[in-house]
Amino acid sequence: MSSEKQPALPNRQTPFSEAFKAFIGTDWAPYSTELPDPLPAASYAAERRGAISARFPGERLVVPAGGLKIRSNDTDYRYRPHSAFAHLTGLGTDREPDAVLVLEPTDDGHDATLYFKPRAPRDAEEFYANARYGEMWVGQRPSLDELSRLCGIRCVAIEELDDELAKNAGDTPIRIVADADPDVTARVARIRTEAGISADPAAAEEDQVDPDAELATALSELRLIKDEYEIEQLREACARTGEAFAAVVADFPEAIRRGRGERWVEGVFGLHARHAGNAVGYDTIAASGDHACTLHWIRNDGELRSGDLILIDAGIELDSLYTADITRTLPLSGTFSEAQREVYLAVLEAQEAGFEAAVPGAKFSDVHAAAIEVIARRLADWGILPVSAEESLNAETGGQHRRWMVHGTSHHLGIDVHDCAQARRENYREGTLAPGMIITIEPGLYFKSEDLLVPERFRGIGVRIEDDVLITETGNENLSAGLPRTPDDVEAWMKDILAP
Ligand code: GLY
Ligand code: MN
Ligand code: MN
Repeated sequence: MSSEKQPALPNRQTPFSEAFKAFIGTDWAPYSTELPDPLPAASYAAERRGAISARFPGERLVVPAGGLKIRSNDTDYRYRPHSAFAHLTGLGTDREPDAVLVLEPTDDGHDATLYFKPRAPRDAEEFYANARYGEMWVGQRPSLDELSRLCGIRCVAIEELDDELAKNAGDTPIRIVADADPDVTARVARIRTEAGISADPAAAEEDQVDPDAELATALSELRLIKDEYEIEQLREACARTGEAFAAVVADFPEAIRRGRGERWVEGVFGLHARHAGNAVGYDTIAASGDHACTLHWIRNDGELRSGDLILIDAGIELDSLYTADITRTLPLSGTFSEAQREVYLAVLEAQEAGFEAAVPGAKFSDVHAAAIEVIARRLADWGILPVSAEESLNAETGGQHRRWMVHGTSHHLGIDVHDCAQARRENYREGTLAPGMIITIEPGLYFKSEDLLVPERFRGIGVRIEDDVLITETGNENLSAGLPRTPDDVEAWMKDILAP
C-alpha cells in the first residue's frame, strides 16, 4: 500500500535463518504504555475537519497522506505528507507514510478515521527485514492508540481501508484528494466504476464539476484564512528564519574564502533549517551578482565577490510544516555601491507601496498593482522603458516593464510556500484581503548583465525584498520585520554581525 513499489535488490540480501527468526522477537522490554500528549494542532485540525464536513454533507471524503517516493533504487526521498492531510490531521514532519484520513458521513456530519500502518510486533518480518517501515531500519513508529491520542482521531489498521472505501459505494458519493497517492486514487476510481459512477471530468456533462477538483479547491480555500495556531507557527517560522539569515551573514567571510560561496550560504541556511525546524520550505536561492537575475537560481554554485550583492531567498519550515519565505538582497562587502543602492531603493519603494495596499477589504491584486506601478515609474525615470509608465502599465497593450520584473508581487503563504494553490481565481488573484490571511510582498528588479537596454552601471544587479505579511483588522503586520529592509538598516545590521 504505497504510491511506489520499492524494487527488491536480491543481489544484496542475505536470507534470514529460521534460528534468527525464532530469536529476533525474544527478550525485548515491552513498549511503553504511556500515551503521548495530543498534538498542539489537534484541536485546530478538528475544527478544520468540521468546516470541510459542513461543506460536503452526506459524502465520503478521502484524504491520503501519500507514500514514500523513490529517489533511486531502494532509497527514498525524505518523506513529507500531503499538505491537505497535514492540515486536517495536525501531523507534520515525516508522518505518516501511506496513511489515509476518511471522513465518513453520518446523520449530523462526519466521523473521522485515520487508516495507517501501525508498528509491527518485534517478531514480525517487517520489524527487521523491511527497510521502509521496519523499526530496526526507520525507528519505532506509532501504535494505533498512540497515533489516535496524538491526533484525537480514531485510528484503524490500513488493511481495513478497502472495505471502508467500497462500503455502500453506489449510495455514498466519494471524493478524494486525487494528487496525494496514485494508488488510493486508482482504487477509488475502480470503486466508482464498479458502482457505475463516473467521476471523469472529460466524460462529465459540460456544467458538471469534477468532484475531486471541487474538494481540492475547498481544501485550498479552507487555508486562505489562518487560525491562531497557524499564525503563531508562521510567526515562529519567520523568527527562526531571521536567525538563520544572521548566521549566514556571519559566515560570509568564510563563504568568500572557500570559493563556491553560494553553496556555502545554502548549506549554512540549511543547517539552521534542519536544526531549528523540519527543513527548508523550498530550495534556497543563493544568487550572487548576475545570478540574482535568474528568478529560481537554485544551482547555487557561484563565487561570492566582495563588491557584489547576494540575493538570498530562503525559509525555514517548522516541524508543523508551516514555512517562512523571506528574501534579502545584501552587499557582500557590507556596504551598497551607489548603483546598487539606487536599484535597491526603487524596489523598497515598490514594497512600501505594496504594504500600504495590503489592508483588509482591498483586492489581493491591489498589492501587485501598487508595487508594479512604482517599478514601471522608476524604469521610466531611468529611461529604460521604451514607452511611458502609463503605456507600459496598460495590461492589454503594454507590459514592457515586465521584462525587469516578470513575477507577481504576492502569494499566499502557509503549510505550502505557495499556499492555497487550488483556490479559485475569484478567491485568490481577484479575491479580497481579509484578516488572518498571510501573504508575501516581494517586488524585485532584475537587470541582467547582457541587457543592452539597461544603463551599464545597473547591469548585473538583481534585487528582491520579500516579507511575510499578516492581514489584520486594521491593516497588516510584517511577520518578518525582524530582518532589516532599508539600506542603512541592512548595513548597520551586517556591521554588527561581522564586526561586533
Ligand atoms: N521562494 C519562492 C517565492 O518567493 O515565491
Ligand atoms: Mn515568495
Ligand atoms: Mn521567496
